[in-house]
Amino acid sequence: MCGIVGYIGTKKACPILINGLLRLEYRGYDSAGISTIEDGYVSLMKNKGRVMNLYDLEGIDDLNGSIGIAHTRWATHGKPCKENSHPHMDNSNTFSVVHNGIIENYNELRDFLTKEGYSFRSQTDTEVIPNLIHYYINQDTQKDTMAFLRAVQKTCNAMQGSFAIEVISSLYPDNMIVVRKDSPLVIGKGKREFYICSDIPAILSFTRDFYLLNDYEYVLLSRDEAKFYDKELAPITKELKNIEWDASSADKDGFEDYMLKEIFEQPKSIRETIGAKLKSNEAIAFEDLSLSKDYLTSLHKIYIIACGTAMHAGLGTKALFEKFCHIPTEVDIASEFRYRDPLIDDKTLCIYISQSGETADTIAAVKLAKSKGAKTLAVSNVIGSSITREADYCIYTHAGPEIAVASTKAYTAQLVLLSLLALYMAEVLQENSNSEIENIKQELLLLPTKIEEILKNTKPVQDFAKKIYKESDMFFLGRGVDYAVALEGSLKLKEISYIHSEAYAAGELKHGPIALIENGVTVISMITNPDLAAKTISNIQEVITRGAKTMVVTNQELENKGFDFIYTIPKTHPMLSPVLSVVPLQLLSYYISKEKGLDVDKPRNLAKSVTVE
Ligand code: AGP
Repeated sequence: MCGIVGYIGTKKACPILINGLLRLEYRGYDSAGISTIEDGYVSLMKNKGRVMNLYDLEGIDDLNGSIGIAHTRWATHGKPCKENSHPHMDNSNTFSVVHNGIIENYNELRDFLTKEGYSFRSQTDTEVIPNLIHYYINQDTQKDTMAFLRAVQKTCNAMQGSFAIEVISSLYPDNMIVVRKDSPLVIGKGKREFYICSDIPAILSFTRDFYLLNDYEYVLLSRDEAKFYDKELAPITKELKNIEWDASSADKDGFEDYMLKEIFEQPKSIRETIGAKLKSNEAIAFEDLSLSKDYLTSLHKIYIIACGTAMHAGLGTKALFEKFCHIPTEVDIASEFRYRDPLIDDKTLCIYISQSGETADTIAAVKLAKSKGAKTLAVSNVIGSSITREADYCIYTHAGPEIAVASTKAYTAQLVLLSLLALYMAEVLQENSNSEIENIKQELLLLPTKIEEILKNTKPVQDFAKKIYKESDMFFLGRGVDYAVALEGSLKLKEISYIHSEAYAAGELKHGPIALIENGVTVISMITNPDLAAKTISNIQEVITRGAKTMVVTNQELENKGFDFIYTIPKTHPMLSPVLSVVPLQLLSYYISKEKGLDVDKPRNLAKSVTVE
């Protein structure tokens, strides 16, 4: 979705802003723009298309201002075009604004402003913001920086919906105001300078010290200080946080694409996610989480709620909660959960998974559960993200920044962290004989090395990708946790190769989808549970008979019964197998996308972080 960058300091703002926007490109966008404060006026440079195209705009090299705002837009209100790109200015070209989010009542605000004599140049919801600020400042008898702040505050109070905004003005050439509500925005601190961004990787090469903003916290920035105010504009203090990620973790590090780099980072991200939580012969311990036996015993139900790949991580680990905690566990899609009045109360634990921590539907689902008295626990990869501040409890995957739109290392880190959580809860509950739990704990520690083994053997997957990349339909099959992985494999393929694919529980095949199997269709199956292997093999025979090409991902010693490609992965506990079996599927999607010559990291129509409904 849209990205925001801002700079106020002593250096030339333009190159810093464009560098920041380039680092946000992975989020998905259709246009870009910047505004800087120049001598006596606010510049405005924007256009449809790539960030680099900004350098083609006449006059961009003459921008010398050291205060500026910048934006990449992913169209919601109004088609992608120059007029609809951000920044937007008021009618008098005094205030310039970039905005992430959606202003739900923008029609009413537009009508109001039109009656007041304002006119509009774009079809966006955003354009009401600079005009409202202009309107409110004209109503104020004062003209100092507090008047500027009051005008922004009144504007925010008039808006319904979500927003993260940056405002600069030729009337206040040494200041910038930023504020957020339900849309991410952080402030990085340097020496006599501040960097503002919607997404930390954009400014990681400049600073690792950040202020994290809560909803309706206003920041009045000058080169020397950041003054923070609450919703009523009473001054508040904010703590500076150091973010561990280093700048190189947001670079490609010699890999052709972020996605490939992130696939190869999985052993490291799993090791770091396990961290000190799991040590041989000790009970699992979470540094920041302590759930009492009384509370866990009181639970009647666990919900795991998320979107997309994160939801698949819930499906891949649900069985661990049921088997070892003996608590019925349901996995739900956040956008469904939030609108269906689910049966939850204080005896329900709602676990939310979100890599970015900014997914609008998942955050809304947290708020819903809290309003019904349930405790909420967030699993996120981004420290200080919105979901981590909304939920009652929070635990982190330590996957480092995930830049590629297609999630890989965050998914396997989520699987591992949720497995640890399930076993931790089981140990607190002391429900089970511990031998199987102990076995899974040992297997968890071995997962990084086993992924390393898989990553040494990518060539056969690449060769198979060369054989099938021109196809238009594929199927993914599995039973139990293999079905959860089938869903993830299918999503990965759709996202980055644009090949239509479906995932089915292997037993469902005969109930309809088999009608689509014919010569040339590829069927990819996972077989990792010895108890279910024979059943899935029979299902594969049924598709081979009907002409399908087949790939089998397995940790069993299978006799090749006419499969086109068997890819063998190391053995592990059956309930942990998704962490391993997904890796060849990630690689397959990656290589197919490369064969097709597509942009692996920035697939069409997709955004890394879906901050609107
Ligand atoms: C994954 O490849 C997708 N890009 C997408 O499904 C993603 O997992 C989903 O949007 C949820 O994102 P989140 O984890 O940041 O909430």
